[in-house]
Amino acid sequence: MNKIFWQSPSNIALVKYWGKHGIQLPGNPSLSFTLSECHSSTEISWKEGNGKVDLLFDGERKEQFTARARDYIRSIESQLPILKELDLHIDSVNSFPHSAGIASSASAMSSLALCLCSLEEEITGKKLAEEEFFQKASFLGRLGSGSAARSVYGGFVSWGKSDQIPGSSDEYATPLAVEIHESFSDMRDTILIVDQGIKAVSSRAGHKLMDRHTYAKERFKLANKNFSDLIKALKKGDHVNFIRIVEAEALGLHALMMSSNPSYILLKAETLHIIHRIRAFRELSCVPICYTLDAGPNVHLLYHGKDSAEVEEFITQELLLYCNDKYRINDHIGTGPRKL
Ligand code: DP6
Repeated sequence: MNKIFWQSPSNIALVKYWGKHGIQLPGNPSLSFTLSECHSSTEISWKEGNGKVDLLFDGERKEQFTARARDYIRSIESQLPILKELDLHIDSVNSFPHSAGIASSASAMSSLALCLCSLEEEITGKKLAEEEFFQKASFLGRLGSGSAARSVYGGFVSWGKSDQIPGSSDEYATPLAVEIHESFSDMRDTILIVDQGIKAVSSRAGHKLMDRHTYAKERFKLANKNFSDLIKALKKGDHVNFIRIVEAEALGLHALMMSSNPSYILLKAETLHIIHRIRAFRELSCVPICYTLDAGPNVHLLYHGKDSAEVEEFITQELLLYCNDKYRINDHIGTGPRKL
């Protein structure tokens, strides 16, 4: 049996992808930074066959994940025709507990897409140039899960067509091609785990509710503005606007969920307590920390490496009491996936 192994990280969106059309095309450009400690390690082994897919997730066979992987592989057979003539065994392990309520589709799907691109190179003997290889992996990752498109690159990454970014595309992500102020080079993300449960409404279903959302048109307009304003803030080292935009995006995402039809709420009381504490701490200390949220109740606390000691004290004294079993994950901006 032949084997390929990729480790790929999760990412945290600052300008959110929420709402899509066509085949996994985003309603607006999004911007994220890639994490480091939260990652998926995926190994694919293959032999000649006829398209069978077998999957172990965190060492176990789970029908729901296997079905998703099978559907995904089937859906990309036209891009990678070689897959029809192989039987695949996929072994994927997350560095963070699946039950932590952290979106794992970005790391899982990007590591799988990277493995499939390497597998194609291995079998056909045709090596792509590095830029083309990652563009293809981002494109294929996107077809599995939109946010996975951004995880194939390290640092700040954008996905979606925007006048601000030459060469940007709805089809794949690109490393953010602007000079970022050095004060943003050491971003930290402490993920405060408020609830470890499975989400009541999946991201997929949430995106779907944007199709007929009353605020959809305005949201896409605002996201475009936030996208270009955030890039300006990143270039200038403008922390005030960085914080304003990132927090507005986080609450805006949940506002869309709450105002969709049917409406739903993923925030918990603890999420709001944490947000209030962060705001109060920032006001008192003048340390430029802020929060963002995924499609769930857990809070991503963003800050700079130079403030870690002060922020760590704040976390342990004021925030951990709102976390499930005082559970948090310390992560930071990372350099992207690794082939092992
Ligand atoms: C709130 O990428 O999980 O995290 O494309 O349906 O798999 P699918 O959705 P997914 O959505 C991510 C939503 C988000 C914002 C973001 O990461 O941009």
